[in-house]
Amino acid sequence: MTRFPKKSVYVETYGCQMNISDGELMEGILVNDGYEVSSSAEEADVIIVNTCAIREHAEERVLGRIGQLYALKKDRPEVILGVTGCMAQRLGTVLLKRAPYVDLVMGPDAYRSLPEQLGRIQRGARSLPSRSSKKRGPQLAVLDLNIGENYEGLTQRRTSSVSAWVPIQRGCNHRCTFCIVPYVRGPEKNRKSSEVLQEIQEIVGSGRTEVTLLGQTVNSYQSEGISFHELLRSVARIPGMRRVRFTSPHPNDVTPELLEVMAEEPNICEQLHLPVQSGNDKVLRKMLRRYTVETFLDKVQLARDLIPDLSLSTDIIVAFPGETEIQFEDTLELLRQVRFDDAYTYKYSLRDGTPATRLPQEDFLSEDEAQNRLAKLIEVQRSIQSEINEAEVGRTEEVLVEKEGRKKGQVLGRTRRNKVVAFTAPSDTIGGYQQVFLTSTTGATFVGEMVN
Ligand code: SAH
Ligand code: F3S
Repeated sequence: MTRFPKKSVYVETYGCQMNISDGELMEGILVNDGYEVSSSAEEADVIIVNTCAIREHAEERVLGRIGQLYALKKDRPEVILGVTGCMAQRLGTVLLKRAPYVDLVMGPDAYRSLPEQLGRIQRGARSLPSRSSKKRGPQLAVLDLNIGENYEGLTQRRTSSVSAWVPIQRGCNHRCTFCIVPYVRGPEKNRKSSEVLQEIQEIVGSGRTEVTLLGQTVNSYQSEGISFHELLRSVARIPGMRRVRFTSPHPNDVTPELLEVMAEEPNICEQLHLPVQSGNDKVLRKMLRRYTVETFLDKVQLARDLIPDLSLSTDIIVAFPGETEIQFEDTLELLRQVRFDDAYTYKYSLRDGTPATRLPQEDFLSEDEAQNRLAKLIEVQRSIQSEINEAEVGRTEEVLVEKEGRKKGQVLGRTRRNKVVAFTAPSDTIGGYQQVFLTSTTGATFVGEMVN
């Protein structure tokens, strides 16, 4: 094994919860190999930028950031700069050529070999016969997708002492026509339920009482005859567990059984993120989402019937190629009908290699049009959201205190329904549960007062 006891690593993560969890995994792997985790890029011997490829904007941010980090390398040429995650997988050697100061690109299935690959770079190995690498030193690309890799037996370095991300599934078997995920993370693979349960028992043993199960279509989980709702029930029943969440479910795999488990198990939070993407059947068909507005609404109805006080959130894409004004209005109508507690809203972003890129050229909407639609959508959602939240002022909610707030003397936490609340409390309340009276809302978040 390669060991560089005094080396330090800084991991900077972009993107979704799965990526945050992967960042913790990389830190865990490197700590286990003798690295220290540094809290800033300036001090680290190894800098890892853990990237997202979901939209062009996400990639542009990362390109800007690695350009900045290059400045650090000018002062300290021995620093190793690695780019990991979905954008590394997508661009691979193209990224190494474009940014010759990057030493390593590594995809989401290769993190186990991180210490070994960093060791190779430190020893001056060379895997790419590129012209730039000759001048600048070795560059490595580790990009194989590995259907057998579920990172079993490795420990994440959990950064929160309060709650924990637990990936139970990696990759995706869908082919939503806009989405790059199946290409950069490969097909769906599920962890063994016994391993998941053991890990969560350890998490609870460490004093954390909230877990979020992660997967691209987390509720399609199936392993050794155990389906998602069965796993979820077992997780909820682990002694000491207080809050179980999961993200993101695919609407098609929201079954009555799953909703019943959510309704029956007191430790499963009344919260469901249900990405709908569009409120028009024709657009949904072109996106290959495999449900209709009607069947989606049926799921929402069933969920609300079974789980009173359910908080619902969603993802929406506007300006998918060919989306007409009327089809866009259908999405606004869906928002008004469902009244989601929260929505993550995006402009369609073309991802090379995805099926939607082959739609007729004239179907692609202008940036201005897309921006207009996004602004309208956000306006509609904001007003619904603040109405919902205004109506919640006056409630007393159980809040899990997560961290100190921005204002001195304040802490931040979340309700079971995943709403953020700021309130005055000593910092030793962090990690515990408090009853909090909600006194006001900004529309998005709440201010409250502790109830004795
Ligand atoms: N099933 C995954 C989806 C990951 S991507 C999950 O929910 O965990 C998260 C969201 O990004 C998607 O739901 C979609 O709304 C948005 N998205 C994905 N690809 C996109 C693209 N090409 N352009 C714009 N938004 C996109
Ligand atoms: Fe992407 Fe659709 Fe899978 S949004 S992650 S291809 S379910």
